[in-house]
Order: sequence, then C-alpha cells, then structure tokens
Amino acid sequence: MKLKALIASGGRGTRLRPITHTQNKHLIPIANKPILHYAIEAAAAAGITEVGIVTNAGNDEVTSAIGNGEKWGIRITYIPQEAPLGLAHVVKIAEQFIGNDSFIFYLGDNMVVGGVKRYVDAFSASGANCFLTLAKVRDPERFGVPEIRDGMIVKVEEKPEHPKSNYAVAGIYIYDRHIFEAVNNISPSARGELEISDAHQYLIDHGYKVGFSEITGWWKDTGKPTDLLEANRLILENIDPFIDGGVEVDSRSDVAGRVILQKGCKIINSKVRGPAIIGENAVIENSYVGPFSSIGSETHLTNSEVEYSIILKGCRILDAGIRIEGSLLGNDVEIVRADGKPRVQRFMIGDQSRVEVA
Ligand code: G1P
Repeated sequence: MKLKALIASGGRGTRLRPITHTQNKHLIPIANKPILHYAIEAAAAAGITEVGIVTNAGNDEVTSAIGNGEKWGIRITYIPQEAPLGLAHVVKIAEQFIGNDSFIFYLGDNMVVGGVKRYVDAFSASGANCFLTLAKVRDPERFGVPEIRDGMIVKVEEKPEHPKSNYAVAGIYIYDRHIFEAVNNISPSARGELEISDAHQYLIDHGYKVGFSEITGWWKDTGKPTDLLEANRLILENIDPFIDGGVEVDSRSDVAGRVILQKGCKIINSKVRGPAIIGENAVIENSYVGPFSSIGSETHLTNSEVEYSIILKGCRILDAGIRIEGSLLGNDVEIVRADGKPRVQRFMIGDQSRVEVA
C-alpha cells in the first residue's frame, strides 16, 4: 500500500505568544531541533517518501527552514492555506496532492515517542477507512474526545464540556480517500472552522470503518508553554550523549549525565548536569546548567544558573543572580544584573511576555 503524509504547520500559535510573534510555533526547537523535524522524521522512518506540508499562505518561514526534503530522503510539496479555517480544511485543500492514496495526517505540533510506523501497520491490518490514535489525558475537554462502546468509537466530539471518555484524539490520523467525502460535506462549526472531529463523526454516521489504537508511550500536543517544557524533558530523557567537533570543556568543569555538546560550544568552570543539550558555539562560563535544559546556539551564560528550561539562540544571561527554572526564552533575549542602588529589577519586555518574580 502506498502511503503519503500530510503535515499541518499553519495556524497562529496564539497560546505561545510572545515567541510566536516572530516565529512559527512549528519551528520552535525542542532539544535544539524544530518541532516540525520530529514529524518529518517520523514520516520518513515509516518509509513515507511523499510528504505534503500545509503552510500559512504568504509566509515562507516554514518553506525556507525545511526545504525540499532531500536531507531526509523524501520529497516535500508545500500547500498554502489562505486562512486558518480548521484542520478538516487543511485536509480538504490537500485533495489534489493526496489523489487516491491513503495518508497519515500529522499535526506538526504533536510529538509522539516511538514514531508512527506501528500505527500505519495497525491501519493496514485493520482495513479501516480512518484510523485514530488515542491518548489518555487529564484534560480531555481541550481535545477531540471519542466515546467508545464495545470497543468501537461511536462518537467524536470537539472540545466537549462533558467529555465521554478520558481520551484525547491525538493529532496523528490515518485515512483512506473517503476522508475527502467527509471534509467536502461537513459545515463550519460555531467558531467558523471545519473541525476534524466533525469529519470523523461524518465517517461514523455514514457507515465507514473507524479504527483506533491507544498511544501507550508519551504523546504531547505542544500548544502551551508548559507542554513545550514537558516535551523538551521527554526528548532529553531519551538522548544519547554526544560531543561534537571543536567543543571545549576546561578542567574545572564537570559535565555529568546524558549531555549533548554541539559543535564549537565551550564549557568553562561550569557544571552541566544532564540530560541537557548545549547548542553550537554556546558559551557556559562560571555557571550551572541543570537537568532538562536546552541551551540554544550562540547563547552565552555567565555566572548564572538554568534548569528545566528552553533557551533559544543568541541569548545573553549574565550575573542573573537567580536560578532560571521552568522558563522559555526566545531568541536574543538578555537577562543581566541591574547595577546601582537601590536594588531593583528592570524590565524591557515586548508584548504578551510573562515574567514571574519572587
Ligand atoms: C486539534 C484537534 C483536536 C485534537 C488536537 C490534538 O486541536 O481539533 O481534535 O485532539 O488537535 O492535538 P487544537 O490543538 O487545534 O486545539
């Protein structure tokens, strides 16, 4: 069976502001790699070579960051979406690209451990027209939620007030061509979008076979800042230690646990406790980097402490005087000591930022 992949990378990422004012949320790095790479790698690892990526029309950020797919041995076709009209709309505009093939629809901000091949195999074996992946969550009202009776999905509701199960329908779906009949026949929801859950409900109502598998490992929809930190933790937990070329670790430093030191970074009189990743040409001096931290390329950390955080590239953290924890810093952010008396905190912070002070 020939299978294509369709990856969604549009939308506004409003819950991740201010980072998403200047960066598409799918390009935010987790363990120093754009989230979108994980979806592309999962498709490539499942043997898929034809990948369509739906992008926000008029914005070439994703196109230029990702390229034609050559480096993954796949071919990427970009499909612009004129307006964020819903996930079923994303599928609808990909009809020509997909043709009569079956395909995996992967929301580019979802991350799942262990890849997707197992679900592709389960889909093929099941003879289903539509195959959903379900994950147990504490807050199903944030997601599409299935109602399961006698081992069958009988209903799917989008963000229900009273969820019928404690499962979320994860953003990894597998379809045959009948999904196009569904997305071409449903109407926009109250929020004006073509909901993917309504497309699934259409298939159920019209007698198509909707199968599912439970995701037993971890799955994350990286919609909120805390989800990004959690995804970062989970990815770092599974890294293999690696030291790239041109890295310097002086004799006063202590690098322990699973740590990736990327090209040309310098660790000077500092402690790095894995799991952590230090980006290309980053400089860590007289500092502490604790578990579950991703330090971006060219970032400098001097006389400072960071733990369980994502710091993007080109930041300068100098004499911070506090431990930075559970934090997400964008590109080129500076945190420096305020000089003089009285002792003050001084902020120069853009729109929709958030700072917690003790
Ligand atoms: C979307 C879907 C929802 C699904 C979720 C998975 O929600 O509408 O059914 O459970 O993705 O990530 P959104 O993230 O757009 O709120």
